[in-house]
Amino acid sequence: MNDNYQSIIDLRAIRDYEQVPLREADLDAILHAARWTGSSKNLQNWAFIVVQDEDQLAKLAECGDYTVPVENSAATIVLVVEPDGYVFDSGRVAQNIMLAADAIGVASCPITLHRDQDAASLLGLTADQSCRFAVALGYPADGASAKKFGGRKTMTELVHWEQY
Ligand SMILES: Cc1cc2nc3c(=O)[nH]c(=O)nc-3n(C[C@H](O)[C@H](O)[C@H](O)COP(=O)(O)O)c2cc1C
Repeated sequence: MNDNYQSIIDLRAIRDYEQVPLREADLDAILHAARWTGSSKNLQNWAFIVVQDEDQLAKLAECGDYTVPVENSAATIVLVVEPDGYVFDSGRVAQNIMLAADAIGVASCPITLHRDQDAASLLGLTADQSCRFAVALGYPADGASAKKFGGRKTMTELVHWEQY
């Protein structure tokens, strides 16, 4: 078992960040990892909108119900699904963003934009593009820890063999 395995197991959503911008090299590294995510048929039908401006972050936060992490974030990356894009691909790219961020000391939290139409117009998307999910990022605040929503279901509950 190498360190990568443990990082996958240990990855948690962190919602409290230092109020400092992300270093350009860190943001680049995270976006690079996002770019290299595999997608269905390698279509890469996605785009990434980096929101760092304080006012724009506040407006983006209004587009979801649990968006305090967006307001707190140094940057939030909104995942745009281009025409014919798959939501499954968005999940993969979100996880890669979070794992890459974690690897360089940046904390993150997945975000749902419940009012995705509002987010789409805020971000200047066209009618055939959508943006339901985002990832909030920032250096973890002192003592920042994951919320205690509980652990995970047991293997017995989750895993089925050959048939449900
Ligand atoms: C698709 C998806 C959407 C999420 N949306 C939000 C959100 O809007 N706000 C938030 O604070 N956390 C959000 N989360 C984070 C989850 O609450 C978190 O992953 C879950 O409670 C498990 O926490 P842990 O990963 O820290 O163990 C989302 C997670 C996923 C996978």
